[in-house]
Amino acid sequence: MKISIKNAEELTSKLGQVIYIAGTQWGDEGKGKLVDIMSMEYDIVARAAGGANAGHTICINKDGKSEKFVFHLLPSGVLHEGKMCIIGNGCVVHIQTLLDEIHGLKERGIDVMSKLLISDRAHIIFDYHKKIDEIQEERKGDKKVGTTKRGIGPAYTDKIGRRGIRMADLLDFEGFAEKFRANCESKMKAFGIKIDIEEQINFYKDAIELIEPLIVNTIEYLDNAHKEGKTILAEGAQGSHLDIDSGTYPYVTSSNTTSGGACTGLGIAPGKMKSVVGIAKAYTTRVGAGPFPTELGDAEGNMLREQGSEYGATTGRPRRCGWFDAIVVKNAITVSGINSINVTKLDVLTGFQSIKIGVGYKLNGESIEFIPASLKDFESVEVDYIDMPGWTEDISAIKDFDKLPENAKKYILKLEEILEVPINFIGVGVHRSELIYR
Ligand code: GDP
Ligand code: IMO
Ligand code: MG
Repeated sequence: MKISIKNAEELTSKLGQVIYIAGTQWGDEGKGKLVDIMSMEYDIVARAAGGANAGHTICINKDGKSEKFVFHLLPSGVLHEGKMCIIGNGCVVHIQTLLDEIHGLKERGIDVMSKLLISDRAHIIFDYHKKIDEIQEERKGDKKVGTTKRGIGPAYTDKIGRRGIRMADLLDFEGFAEKFRANCESKMKAFGIKIDIEEQINFYKDAIELIEPLIVNTIEYLDNAHKEGKTILAEGAQGSHLDIDSGTYPYVTSSNTTSGGACTGLGIAPGKMKSVVGIAKAYTTRVGAGPFPTELGDAEGNMLREQGSEYGATTGRPRRCGWFDAIVVKNAITVSGINSINVTKLDVLTGFQSIKIGVGYKLNGESIEFIPASLKDFESVEVDYIDMPGWTEDISAIKDFDKLPENAKKYILKLEEILEVPINFIGVGVHRSELIYR
């Protein structure tokens, strides 16, 4: 299958051998769609962090019918033949979820087993991590993070606490069972939960039969591939502001979602990463709790949600919606070294009479151009907006930037001027073909 954007070869040679596709806001920016398109030109597609908290949607037209895929753990390159997909060492893997995803694709005629490798260093998410995630959220009362309840935080807590269990442990099953029993005992005591330990051990015994051939040293694999000149696309999960360090802590996920996290999460040295493509929705959305200065609670927010089908790909929760926040995206550009941008969902803004862009904050009457560390401060910032005129024409079939309505062009050019990074890709619809490359 050929890439659906023109000048693909020129594009990949410009972007380089190793690239990262990163979310610049609070996740769900549309990373999956560009990863799917770009994987046609890259040899290897690799997830570096997170787990099944991610939900990456891909819509393709097949035999005149629209088909939708949502990937949680599998890299979004998995629909293409001849590509290797990698779940890197920085990821946390719930094995049943992985098996379900592989099985679901098999039922749709897509073989995953021959093109998937899982890092021997990736940590395993057990069912007790999911239960603990629920219990901890419950205990937080009205301070809930609004997690996806996929066990992400508790699994990374065990990783950092040096008591996690990794894929490699499964390869020595006796040793695995011993560690697993000890961890179960300690979780049952600490959280008052019940675990049928032997039933679980039997599950892992069966599971390892299936996935053992996939578990390898992916750091070595990627290094060898790089030396052979193969191209590598690292697929971001979540977004820059859900990053444990640079996000809106504690309303964040438990991993590094920025380009630094992609390097450590795959064992790829930073110098090898030639480009970082930032994905930015033409407006802003967020699921879960936490500050969101440009959030719209009114009819315009609802219009964005309905026109953009803004409901979570993982949990189905309605996404909070608001105007584009340039301070947020600029911060992502800074921390990840983004040098190219894909503005997604421009088509969703069709029909708005006027569109606002948040260009600065005022904190206690003083202008600031950064995100305050204090949540209280961030929650109290006033946003400075500029107004842009809207358009009414359907833009989803447009392939050339010049053919966009004047006001849509003006909106993109204004964003580019503010962000000071070229906007090379513009999403105008859910499907692969609905993308402008400039
Ligand atoms: P991800 O987590 O960043 O991969 O994004 P999600 O899949 O969670 O959410 C993005 C949603 O927007 C999905 O439903 C995509 O199909 C859809 N999408 C992506 N790009 C575009 C676009 O340019 N226009 C429209 N209308 N939808 C898009
Ligand atoms: P993709 O890859 C949007 C949010 C959750 C919650 C916070 C912590 O599809 O963009 P967690 O379960 O990770 O402990 O939840 O992070 N969150 C996401 N929001 N897109 C995602 O992934 C997300 N992954 C986690 O809603 O606010
Ligand atoms: Mg998503």
